Amino acid sequence: MRLAIVGCGSIGGELAEAADNMDEVKRIYLMDLNGKAADALASKLKKAIAVRSIDQELYHCDLVIEAASQAAAKAIIPKVVGRGVDIMIMSVGALVDDDYRKNVYDTARNTGARILVPSGAVCGTDGLSSAAAGSIDSVELITTKHPSSIVDVPYLKEKGIDVNKIAKPTVIYEGPAREAVKLFPKNVNVAAAVSIMGIGFDRTKVKIILDPKTKSNSHELIVKGEFGDMISRTNNVPSPSNPSTSHLAALSAIAALKRIIRNDWVGI
Ligand SMILES: NC(=O)c1ccc[n+]([C@@H]2O[C@H](COP(=O)([O-])OP(=O)(O)OC[C@H]3O[C@@H](n4cnc5c(N)ncnc54)[C@H](O)[C@@H]3O)[C@@H](O)[C@H]2O)c1
Repeated sequence: MRLAIVGCGSIGGELAEAADNMDEVKRIYLMDLNGKAADALASKLKKAIAVRSIDQELYHCDLVIEAASQAAAKAIIPKVVGRGVDIMIMSVGALVDDDYRKNVYDTARNTGARILVPSGAVCGTDGLSSAAAGSIDSVELITTKHPSSIVDVPYLKEKGIDVNKIAKPTVIYEGPAREAVKLFPKNVNVAAAVSIMGIGFDRTKVKIILDPKTKSNSHELIVKGEFGDMISRTNNVPSPSNPSTSHLAALSAIAALKRIIRNDWVGI
């Protein structure tokens, strides 16, 4: 299998190193806006070469993996699936817009490409996707973070909330996922993935709590439906190379890649 990885930061770097050690992976093309990041990563790996654009690689690549940014994902998904190539995306927030999402899924259906979204920084998505095969009454995502992880949010200024002055666990948002992803655009990936898998952006409820004592970025996923109910709690440690990314996100991308290349679908 030949891979192209767009984004050679914390997730892309860990994923590329893991892919380099997979026998099934024959070639890895690395692309980053910062060409030096792609060059440096390629120099550490056996099967990788740095490229400045993935356009030419789409003619012979089996899978593109986006681990860059929402803007990057929005730009490359139509191009990749339009060529009939599968894409795995980490910046799930790129799929928030309903019209955009419908367009790219329609294109993928027409060309036979797949848009693959790993579970990322949250556990319990296996139960959620099973539940969604029946009827679901409610999905709630409670995210608890340290106040320092929320920066540049105009909504908090409007509400007169100064995150530096938060001394005890404080709910700063409670409402539909659709509004949450607009108000907190840098914290949307998990809310977006859970909404798409379950009951959509309007019915999925999100609560965001800032806790000055927490050391982890935690997500509690609560689902109720015809199957019964479930609660999953994930206490994430940050990635060693990017404190705002949960380490589990890179691990989920590696696990997803293994499932895809080995056709090994246990517990999906
Ligand atoms: N799905 C999840 O649960 C989850 C969890 C954590 C992070 N993420 C998302 O995954 C993405 C990558 O996270 P990360 O921690 O590796 O970030 P990072 O900042 O460590 O690395 C991102 C890399 O992408 C490069 N880049 C940015 N824009 C680009 C573009 N247009 N084209 C090519 N390269 C570009 C940057 O130069 C950087 O090297 C982010 O969008 C992040 O929000 C998703």
